[in-house]
Amino acid sequence: MAEFTLPKNSKIRTGKTHPKPATSKKPKTFKIYRWSPDDGQTPSIDTYEIDLANCGPMVLDALLHIKNDIDQTLTLRRSCREGICGSCAMNIDGMNTLACTKAIDEIDGDVKINPLPHMPVIKDLIPDLTHVYAQLTSIEPWMKTQSSPPSRERLQSPEERAKLDGLYECILCFCCSTSCPSYWWSGDRYLGPAILLQAYRWIADSRDEATGERLDNLEDPFRLYRCHTIMNCTTTCPKGLNPAKAIAEIKKLMVVRR
Ligand code: SF4
Ligand code: SF4
Ligand code: FES
Repeated sequence: MAEFTLPKNSKIRTGKTHPKPATSKKPKTFKIYRWSPDDGQTPSIDTYEIDLANCGPMVLDALLHIKNDIDQTLTLRRSCREGICGSCAMNIDGMNTLACTKAIDEIDGDVKINPLPHMPVIKDLIPDLTHVYAQLTSIEPWMKTQSSPPSRERLQSPEERAKLDGLYECILCFCCSTSCPSYWWSGDRYLGPAILLQAYRWIADSRDEATGERLDNLEDPFRLYRCHTIMNCTTTCPKGLNPAKAIAEIKKLMVVRR
């Protein structure tokens, strides 16, 4: 009989409990993944019983209340608190989303918070984005031209500009890629929905003159064709975008050029 040993950091301990204040008006329990590379321990789930009367309405407000007033060791990324920078992406209540735009009131029962799935963790809720940013670099996410530059800007018609709607709004939060089973298992070679949506954003841009080269770069059994249209990416995108459709458009262009 085969025997498997789980990697050390896959075993999760029950961590510390921070009990609610004695005079709690609106109590709510947060269960948060904790792991530090510095203490040699396996990850834990720490429990924070907080009073929602002491913080704003969003999950990020609660996390900052915990960090500022209860446990300064809690580590997370955030910047804009407006759903624009993408840095507060995490798994909340079983779904990848942005902590700053997720209302606490939408969650029944305890609020369970984990880092984005299937990414290496640097500490607590901070995933290591090194690999996914290297993948972004590989699709050359900038306008490439060969023709001489015009005296002013390169123009687009309103119809050409409209083709970028649903693409330019991507904030690179990676909620989609980290919800994609194909990316979980083949993320070393499959580019995943976030990067493929970025690739299509430049393919769809009428001013870009490198479409053939961009499609050549994606014509590969792994980089593009590991998408099996499972649609988790589109379901989870906190900006309401449709990466699965962008991937389908790239596949269509591959067929057309053949
Ligand atoms: S549609 Fe494609 S990219 Fe999106 S979750 Fe499914 S396999 Fe992943
Ligand atoms: S497509 Fe949506 S989920 Fe994916 S990186 Fe962009 S904004 Fe985030
Ligand atoms: S803090 Fe910028 S998207 Fe949440």
